Amino acid sequence: MKDLSERSAQFTDSVIRRMTRISLQYKALNLSQGFPDFDPPKELTAALAETAGSGPHQYSITWGAQNFRAALAEKQSRCMGRAIDPEKEIVVTCGSTEAMMAAMLTVTNPGDKVIVFSPFYENYGADAILAGAEPIYVPLVPPEFRFDPDVLEDAFRQKPKALILCNPSNPCGRVFTRAELETIAALAAKYDAYVITDEVYEHIVYAPQRHVYFSSLPGMAERTLSCSSLSKTYSITGWRLGYIIAPDRIIEAARKVHDFLTVGAAAPLQEAAVTALRFPQEYYQSLLDEYTEKRSIFVTGLRDAGIPHIPPEGAYYVLADISEYGYKSDLEFCETLAREVGIGAVPGSSFFREPVNHLIRFHFAKKNETLYEALNRLESMRKKMLRGQEN
Ligand SMILES: Cc1ncc(COP(=O)(O)O)c(C=O)c1O
Repeated sequence: MKDLSERSAQFTDSVIRRMTRISLQYKALNLSQGFPDFDPPKELTAALAETAGSGPHQYSITWGAQNFRAALAEKQSRCMGRAIDPEKEIVVTCGSTEAMMAAMLTVTNPGDKVIVFSPFYENYGADAILAGAEPIYVPLVPPEFRFDPDVLEDAFRQKPKALILCNPSNPCGRVFTRAELETIAALAAKYDAYVITDEVYEHIVYAPQRHVYFSSLPGMAERTLSCSSLSKTYSITGWRLGYIIAPDRIIEAARKVHDFLTVGAAAPLQEAAVTALRFPQEYYQSLLDEYTEKRSIFVTGLRDAGIPHIPPEGAYYVLADISEYGYKSDLEFCETLAREVGIGAVPGSSFFREPVNHLIRFHFAKKNETLYEALNRLESMRKKMLRGQEN
């Protein structure tokens, strides 16, 4: 038989989701794929139950149900500091995952270049390949994960069509400062590039850092496709609700791409999620308070267990340094960790363009009791994993 597409041969299945399968196989506590083990807010599950009875159960408007877009526009206008037109400036997607893919397909032609910071959320590499675009990787240098403005300008000199900006960043937990974002903005304007942002952790930013929406910088709204989702903010990763916000010229094209990719996001879930979009401001503060506590529990536990790590400024991931164990492959380390210690983690190499093999990623979007249990197990990591090496 003929070969399958070259495009599908260019990337592997997701390492993150593979680690979830390995965690299940060894009955490990899964700190790999970033989703909560706690329930969404009760008001939201109650709204879902009601929608199950009342509907809608048929397709919504392809670019998003009218009441969902209205509620989203109201919330995001407040957050992003500009009036967003629900009729012209939003397309509702199946998660930020589809939003990012649709944004990439909206902006790029095959052969176009896109700047991607490394480490990166692993979908961006596959998105670029699927769109036929060519990534130019710009390192965020550990342990502080800052970029060198000269290296970034070198990348812009290669005339990219767009830059992908994950802020707050998965996996490294960076929250870019206003000054850093202004550097990116100046280059995007100078070299006339679009900026596609992934801001799914916009509400999980630890003090004293603050989230600055890229599109809110002077002159940037017109060239920014702001992608985000409800997955992390309302603990509903399985609902698959996301969106792109951009000027109408861009949204007009993005709607067509989205329509032929998926037709639309689930209508009953959009209906129920209107409840979440109307939550008062206190909801976002209590979400942040909870994650601040989880972060503190987890990084304190790692410190006490003697596991070197980089505390995040935002999102809910921690990169831990496994250099001392001497494994050549971080994938092998993570498989052994799942089997011997009962903890699922993601090999850092899946996020880096550079040959980085000494970092693994844990996430802490878990009930506090799950985190304490995970930390109990991790206390034995040194003993078990070093011994594993000797065998
Ligand atoms: C940076 C980033 N973008 C997108 C996603 C996926 O978001 P969604 O569930 O909205 O597709 C994740 C999930 O972990 C993520 O970390």
